[in-house]
Amino acid sequence: MSDWTYGYVADIGYTFGYYTELNPLRMRLAFLNAGLATPQVGAACELGFGQGMSANIHAASSTVQWWGTDFNPAQASFAQELAAVSRAEARLYDQAFAEFCKRGDLPDFDYIGLHGIWSWISDENRAVIVDFIARKLKVGGALYISYNTMPGWAAFAPMRNLMTEHAEVMAAPGRGIVSRIDAAIDFAEKLLATNPNYARANPLAAERIKKIKDQNRHYLAHEYFNRDWDPMPFADMARWLEPAKVNYACSAHYLDHVDAVNLSADQQAFLKDIPDPMFRETARDFMVNQQFRRDYWVKGPRRLSALTQSESLRREKFILVTPRADVSLKVSGSLGEATLQEPVYGPVLDALADHRAKTLAQVEQAVQAKSINFAQLLQANEFADKRLPILKALEIA
Ligand SMILES: C[S@@+](CC[C@H](N)C(=O)[O-])C[C@H]1O[C@@H](n2cnc3c(N)ncnc32)[C@H](O)[C@@H]1O
Repeated sequence: MSDWTYGYVADIGYTFGYYTELNPLRMRLAFLNAGLATPQVGAACELGFGQGMSANIHAASSTVQWWGTDFNPAQASFAQELAAVSRAEARLYDQAFAEFCKRGDLPDFDYIGLHGIWSWISDENRAVIVDFIARKLKVGGALYISYNTMPGWAAFAPMRNLMTEHAEVMAAPGRGIVSRIDAAIDFAEKLLATNPNYARANPLAAERIKKIKDQNRHYLAHEYFNRDWDPMPFADMARWLEPAKVNYACSAHYLDHVDAVNLSADQQAFLKDIPDPMFRETARDFMVNQQFRRDYWVKGPRRLSALTQSESLRREKFILVTPRADVSLKVSGSLGEATLQEPVYGPVLDALADHRAKTLAQVEQAVQAKSINFAQLLQANEFADKRLPILKALEIA
């Protein structure tokens, strides 16, 4: 492994994934649903873009000016090639965060996004990123950040440490990362087969090892085999971001907004009694045994009046992105699988079945004859589950 990696796995490329949460256009619905004003995004930046699929798709499909970096030159080269082909003029570099964040030619950004970065880098690099957000995110601008968190990783964290240590200490010198990963998984399985007290106290650990065995080695290398791996509780994340003057806005994962599929009635009532919204998030993470958070933060949150919120929501445009017949009314949340009610969701989906972009006001009009009102579509908590098709099946045009 060469020096420029800071202990990050660089001898195997990352997967070619697209992450919809990184799309700034999607942010509006989540912010409006949370009752917050959303920034207009002119300039956006992605830190650690991997193969650059998301940055390139977002640059090619909008008028947003994109910048970004990923220090793996093979990945940056692929990302640049995509940008050249699409002529999106995305400015994508192969600089380390410390180098990129000092560039003198960067604009101030309305949006900064990092997906799958924060838990896998050193404190030193985290400080570089927080300083960058403090200096370069505009007032009113939004940050999207995802990270491994607690308590979801509490049981498996020691096993992850054991596997990385095995890969470092026990692997024969010169063996490539894939064979070191295979050997570490094999070792973990054999250890668990001896029925250690750890396995009795954490019965899910063996199941996870079984699942890991079948996963893509490129993904595993980056998820588990970096020197740094730090699942961070939400409160610690908030402390890290304090100097950047950003506040927690809402989850970027739409389904998190729908309590009915994630929290029992008792849990909802329990959380409602917690006055501090930040502490409420921490307690909620225990309810759902949160493993991975996908969050929006904002520099200077502005709360909308109920009227502005509903007017803004009515102006939002949606488009059905899958054939009507393929939309399943089954959804999975932390509580398990739920089936949405056809009498409410069917007409909403029918209204969008022509795949033309429509404002929520137009959808509202189309379903009025079926006695489905705006409150049912979006607002009232007791109808939160009925809001799901809007949140799940549709993307903002
Ligand atoms: C787990 S991958 C996530 C990639 C991408 N965001 C995605 O979700 O597909 C983390 C990425 O961060 C990059 N990275 C890690 N440390 C970095 C640093 N100090 N400077 C720049 N890039 C870094 C790695 O090369 C890798 O592509």
